[in-house]
Amino acid sequence: MRSVAVFNNKGGVGKSTLTLLLADFFSSTSVTIKDRRARILVIDLDAQNSSATALVGQTAVEHYQKDGLTVDGLLQLLIQGKKPSLSDFLITRREKTTGARKIPLGQLWVMPTDGDASLRLEEKYRDRIVIAWFERLRPLLEKAFDIVLLDLPANIDRRNFLPMAALSTADFIVTPTEPSKITLNALEKTFNIIRDAQGAARQAGRQEPKLVGLILNKTDRRTKQYRLHAKELKIRAGENDSLVFDNWLPPAPALATATDDSLEFEHLRERYDTYYDHVRKVSKEMAERCGLVKRAGK
Ligand SMILES: Nc1ncnc2c1ncn2[C@@H]1O[C@H](COP(=O)(O)OP(=O)(O)OP(=O)(O)O)[C@@H](O)[C@H]1O
Ligand SMILES: [Mg+2]
Repeated sequence: MRSVAVFNNKGGVGKSTLTLLLADFFSSTSVTIKDRRARILVIDLDAQNSSATALVGQTAVEHYQKDGLTVDGLLQLLIQGKKPSLSDFLITRREKTTGARKIPLGQLWVMPTDGDASLRLEEKYRDRIVIAWFERLRPLLEKAFDIVLLDLPANIDRRNFLPMAALSTADFIVTPTEPSKITLNALEKTFNIIRDAQGAARQAGRQEPKLVGLILNKTDRRTKQYRLHAKELKIRAGENDSLVFDNWLPPAPALATATDDSLEFEHLRERYDTYYDHVRKVSKEMAERCGLVKRAGK
């Protein structure tokens, strides 16, 4: 199992959208890991649950929240030394073929968050959450999944023990960002939080998460905006032992509603349409950079 945290501390840069696109790519194409269809889990760590909602609908998310079957609920039981069954906490998005073009959507699994319950968990257990994630949650996930995608919230700091634990225990971090002055200025804070997360992993005697790279979103490489900021982004990435992905995601009007309740995710790929090639390339590059698949020989 490999876990990938999608994180940028700036809001609205496309964390949830990228999570959805990656989840979609890995679950519904010919991607195989160890010669079988990859088993994908999306853990939504944002109280807004935008990616969980887009994948399985608001009704299912609310139902699981009501029963305490959320990532915070699971961690609480694990910290208390109980032996919950992971499958009770997983919402299944079943395989189906959809849309006019009969696009096949693979099966995947989703775990939402409960914002209030998370706060209570954080107040009570603080950094014990990191240890519980490493020692108890991770072994459960190892058995059941090939790739775990973690959709992180924005505006976190080290008192947000739950998202910090998710970041610290991830194998990889990818950072969607826009080539704009405002997101560039906010990057330093993001890097600082990633360093905190890496420190927490080291402190727990574990492998620290690797910042794989920045993925440019809403990017048109012909614009002045891009020319002005791309170089600076590369420098900042390099200073933080990272890089900017070769591939990027263009601004897509269809994606503007991707994490909206009104748009069912099943139609997203169809609406992304001609841009889907970019999604495929970004996903493949991520898989290669994270060592999920072998790098195409170049
Ligand atoms: N490439 C794109 N082209 C056009 N719109 C996009 C693109 N990527 C994301 N969006 C839109 O931008 C908005 C923010 O995206 P998203 O919710 O994925 O960001 P986020 O980083 O998860 O936000 P938050 O910090 O609130 O969790 C959404 O309305 C989304 O549909
Ligand atoms: Mg989001």
